Amino acid sequence: MTDTPILSVEGLQKTFGAVVAAKDIYVDVPAGQVIGVIGSNGAGKTAFVNMLTGYLKPSGGTIRFLGEDITGITPRQAVHKGLTRSFQVSQVFMTLSVRQNLLTALALARRHGGAMLRPITSPDLLEECDAILERYRLTDVEDNFASSLSQGSRKLLDIAMAVVSEPKMLLLDEPTSGVATEEKFAIMDTVMSALKASETTVLFIEHDMEIVERYVDRVLAFFLGEVICDAPPAEALVDPKVRELVIGETIPARLETETSHA
Ligand SMILES: Nc1ncnc2c1ncn2[C@@H]1O[C@H](COP(=O)(O)OP(=O)(O)OP(=O)(O)O)[C@@H](O)[C@H]1O
Ligand SMILES: [Mg+2]
Repeated sequence: MTDTPILSVEGLQKTFGAVVAAKDIYVDVPAGQVIGVIGSNGAGKTAFVNMLTGYLKPSGGTIRFLGEDITGITPRQAVHKGLTRSFQVSQVFMTLSVRQNLLTALALARRHGGAMLRPITSPDLLEECDAILERYRLTDVEDNFASSLSQGSRKLLDIAMAVVSEPKMLLLDEPTSGVATEEKFAIMDTVMSALKASETTVLFIEHDMEIVERYVDRVLAFFLGEVICDAPPAEALVDPKVRELVIGETIPARLETETSHA
């Protein structure tokens, strides 16, 4: 491994009229790191992810991925370069089964140079599909319609469909949003161990501080388009500015006790 970051963001800016969604953001991401992006509503989290993945053109600054300037590329080009995202609302086909959803995503991803779709009965696609279903713990529900899944399983399917492009870096917009409390850790355990096995670098937006505390190596806290804290969770979640501007009263009690004894 070299010391070159997989992703390097320099002076990134985005304005919508008088609204500043990104104000001079600098971030270097080493390969393999798991980053949690936190921030109150309207802080600029989604705008940041949208700019990284080609859904929004920056007003200024540069984005480098694997050493290459990718500022202003299209979402499709981003996926080809190994930078893929999921959305806050699952993008699955509700009237298809779990298996059909995944096979469709695989058939689209394994086209050769824009050629015709591969038949979804190709043995290699079926084999790959089985492996992903297993890795994402979806085998038991493979014949169920996506519409009948729990929110958690639907998120798993959504992420499984995103990783068919074999991204080097995956960006997730609130992977646990809408997922029941009793399901959220199981879902995140599955997702994070699958992504660790494939050595995928991960950046995800999250409002749930228990999830942030448990799964990320590093926190980026946004406020009014600025990164107000960039630190490991143990430090970031007790940072006074983060507590005041991002977390409010939802600070985990355990962390609070630890700091008061520090
Ligand atoms: N297409 C757009 N046109 C105009 N303003 C926009 C647009 N997209 C985002 N904004 C504004 O940019 C700012 C940042 O928005 P963004 O969606 O990135 O926030 P967020 O941190 O993702 O918030 P949330 O937690 O609510 O999802 C907000 O003030 C928002 O209103
Ligand atoms: Mg958002």
